[in-house]
Amino acid sequence: MAKSIQESALSTQSASKEYFVEQYQSVRRFTEHLCEPLATEDYVIQSMADVSPTKWHIAHVTWFWETFLLFPARPAYQSLHPQYAYLFNSYYNTLGQRHCRPRRGLISRPTVKETYTYRRYVDEHVLDLVEQLDEGQLTALAPIMTLGLHHEQQHQELMVTDIKHVFSCNPLYPAYVERVPTSTASIPAVEWVSFPEGVYWLGHEGEGFAFDNEGPRHRQFVQSFQLASRLVTNGEYLEFMEDGGYDNPLLWLSEGWATVQQEEWQAPFYWEKRDGQWWMMTLSGLREVDLAEPVCHVSYFEADAYARWADARLPTEAEWEVAAHEVPVEGNFVESGLYHPAPLNASTTGGKLAQMYGDVWQSKLLRALSELQARAGGGRGIQWEVHVQPVRPARWLLRYLPFTYQVHLSQLLSGQRPVAIHGHPLSEGGVT
Ligand SMILES: [Fe+2]
Repeated sequence: MAKSIQESALSTQSASKEYFVEQYQSVRRFTEHLCEPLATEDYVIQSMADVSPTKWHIAHVTWFWETFLLFPARPAYQSLHPQYAYLFNSYYNTLGQRHCRPRRGLISRPTVKETYTYRRYVDEHVLDLVEQLDEGQLTALAPIMTLGLHHEQQHQELMVTDIKHVFSCNPLYPAYVERVPTSTASIPAVEWVSFPEGVYWLGHEGEGFAFDNEGPRHRQFVQSFQLASRLVTNGEYLEFMEDGGYDNPLLWLSEGWATVQQEEWQAPFYWEKRDGQWWMMTLSGLREVDLAEPVCHVSYFEADAYARWADARLPTEAEWEVAAHEVPVEGNFVESGLYHPAPLNASTTGGKLAQMYGDVWQSKLLRALSELQARAGGGRGIQWEVHVQPVRPARWLLRYLPFTYQVHLSQLLSGQRPVAIHGHPLSEGGVT
């Protein structure tokens, strides 16, 4: 089992051979741990263009180590197969031609067994390399080794995300893991947590690892705002649905409304109605929607429409970061074994923010345009996230909701929609 986010704060500053070997083995083992529930047949399915087969993921992260660590550091290194670089490059244009992403499901060879052989081969060479590094070499290679660990953890998120979609396409609705019961005794009422206007420092701080889009650190003026103290629940989202949320164009951005029409959206992705009840596909199979759980698998457009219906809007990235600054990194991560968002088990949020980490990726306003961005601070970077935590707006902001989309546009606009990943260190953008 991988260590918690706090324990495994991978850092180039604490690089030592022992540290790296321990981290490398832990991350690599966890990738394979995530594969344990799978049958060989599960590894190879590509259920849609944005889904990669599990086999591709576990080969691709291996290719990363080979390409960015072994080849540069060991000129004599020979790949196990010269064509693997073509098959398992994701989108690194500078590294030559690559296989077409939507056709990854057609790659029956290498087999799953051969892919694991590839992993073993690279593991042996990586560990052998590290063993032979002197202190200066280790320091020089620490940044790429650290990036490799984070890259593989990103793909761990993707693997689980993708296998959920694969299983959802099977009328048997297979369970990836057994469901872990959660408490639904009480869901605290939403409170609005206030933050004063001011100039705030944003961006990555400190010596630990960060992706390049998390910096540089900079100051930004942020208007006063209030953030909801917890995530929106399925029950609350159902109220939006039953109030005609999907039938009211006034609630939607223009492109969002067009997508609702085109894709015939009537509910979050993975929801379906059976005998008058809403059910949802989870990594524990198909089950009834738990009204107490945070809603997930809503697209950016749906999160935005919900927020408007609730007389709120999504927070900007700057607002979210300001709000999260003092919140401990605690929550429902992969270590919980739930593989699903959990109901907030508390009678009150006590005027504090809950569920800021773990559970789901959270929706925020994407980059605002020109004047709004200049006045309200806009955003430093772009994330694709799938949850709703509305912020009460300063009134003048209601007149503006301009957006541009910079990443994962196809997922936002496709029927697949961005998927919630839960239980893993959140990462922003970066290499995938
Ligand atoms: Fe990648």
